[in-house]
Amino acid sequence: MTEPLKIGLAGLGTVGRGVARIIENNGSEIARKIGRPIEIAAVTARDRNKDRGYDFSPFPWFETPAELAEKADYDVFVELVGGEEGAALEATRIALKRGKHVVTANKAMLALHGQELALLAEQNKAGLLFEAAVAGGIPIVKSLKESLSGNRIERIYGILNGTCNYMLTRMQNEGKDFAEILKAAQEEGYAEADPSFDIGGIDAAHKLALLTTLGFGTVTSFDDVYVEGIENITPEDIRASDELGYRIKLLGVAVKTEDGIEQRVHPALVPKDSAIGEVSGVTNCVCVDGDFIGSVMLIGPGAGEGATASSVVGDIIDTTRQCGDAVFTLPASELAPYNRAPLRAHEGGYYVRLQLHDRPGTFAAIATRMAEYGISLESIVQRHSDHIAGDSSKGSEGDPAQVVIITYQTTEQAVSEALREIEKDGHIAGQPNMIRIERL
Ligand SMILES: NC(=O)c1ccc[n+]([C@@H]2O[C@H](COP(=O)([O-])OP(=O)(O)OC[C@H]3O[C@@H](n4cnc5c(N)ncnc54)[C@H](OP(=O)(O)O)[C@@H]3O)[C@@H](O)[C@H]2O)c1
Repeated sequence: MTEPLKIGLAGLGTVGRGVARIIENNGSEIARKIGRPIEIAAVTARDRNKDRGYDFSPFPWFETPAELAEKADYDVFVELVGGEEGAALEATRIALKRGKHVVTANKAMLALHGQELALLAEQNKAGLLFEAAVAGGIPIVKSLKESLSGNRIERIYGILNGTCNYMLTRMQNEGKDFAEILKAAQEEGYAEADPSFDIGGIDAAHKLALLTTLGFGTVTSFDDVYVEGIENITPEDIRASDELGYRIKLLGVAVKTEDGIEQRVHPALVPKDSAIGEVSGVTNCVCVDGDFIGSVMLIGPGAGEGATASSVVGDIIDTTRQCGDAVFTLPASELAPYNRAPLRAHEGGYYVRLQLHDRPGTFAAIATRMAEYGISLESIVQRHSDHIAGDSSKGSEGDPAQVVIITYQTTEQAVSEALREIEKDGHIAGQPNMIRIERL
């Protein structure tokens, strides 16, 4: 009888359980595709007695991921433990050194150790597959490695974090502030108890670092990603952007510029009637601009048990077909160092919201400062406090007022310096809120 494809499953949480369910439900279908049965041969997690909503007791148990990776009899090590270091990294190294294929959903580990692990995999003729690590169920890794690999990639960008997109969508729909929506998202299970990785942009930055390596053939360099989260987005920003025809999204953008490669994660304004502007809720999307393809956009579930496990099982199936070749789009030894394009050289339009001391001449003084730095204004709109609170009637003279400015194309350096001068001039209260506008 044909030997089964044996899976060593490390991590029995959300995704691990999803993988077990797919293998149980679709095992015979998968067996037809790979020409042999598929079975879970060994499992591990922290707590053997935990109720997981799935009965893992029939499978041989190992005390640690490292022990499983070292001693179990398996063909594919499936790493669903998580974390950039520690148990996941240790066990992955062991499995690869044994020449075993590894399938992982762990973007944090790969964003920090991607090249080292890719070298290890290639030296040992093992596969290291990670479709689930970038945008969960969206098949973007294979698209970049295979279907789009004839192109010179110019830009990759997208909505890479479902929690942030869910929160921004609710702020948009309900007009509530960040803290209120975060609390609701946590109660509903859309945000973690410690949401800092998601809302601070780190999770999206891990994924972006991998997309950059895949798209541009560069070394994986998480430290080069500029990261800004959504914590400072206010209902006023959402409302003012909406009135100007924009939606605010947390975007990850990797783009080739004259200065090198710019990698950035930050809130950005996109036209509300654009395809990306209409991606709402937990849905993710990834857009790729290439020299011959033009633009491609993939939209789908970026997380969740079924969607993420679907990508993991797709990779498990792939280990039976072609493995041991380049982990990224190039062999790991050929991934190139690159120049980090400084963000101050970034060119684009900007949204700026300023809280004004309502005095005669303030408006003109701000416009003059912007002009000194060569910044042309597409629009400048004064919004009184009762307007801001939702009443479109004008406030009375002396009320605190806000000004929302949209600039034409300029540089980040010019905007930052002009805002610094405007702050020094004493015309504004508090910090200006600046959001980049993404050219689509
Ligand atoms: N959830 C998603 O939608 C999603 C989407 C894309 C990618 N991912 C990635 O997939 C991976 C797994 O995510 P998840 O949501 O399934 O996580 P999870 O629900 O927290 O499950 C993690 C599992 O790993 C086990 N584990 C953690 N630390 C361990 C250690 N030191 N030794 C042994 N076992 C350990 C846990 O054991 P216990 O259960 O005993 O505590 C648990 O079974 C992560 O890398 C994550 O970033 C997840």
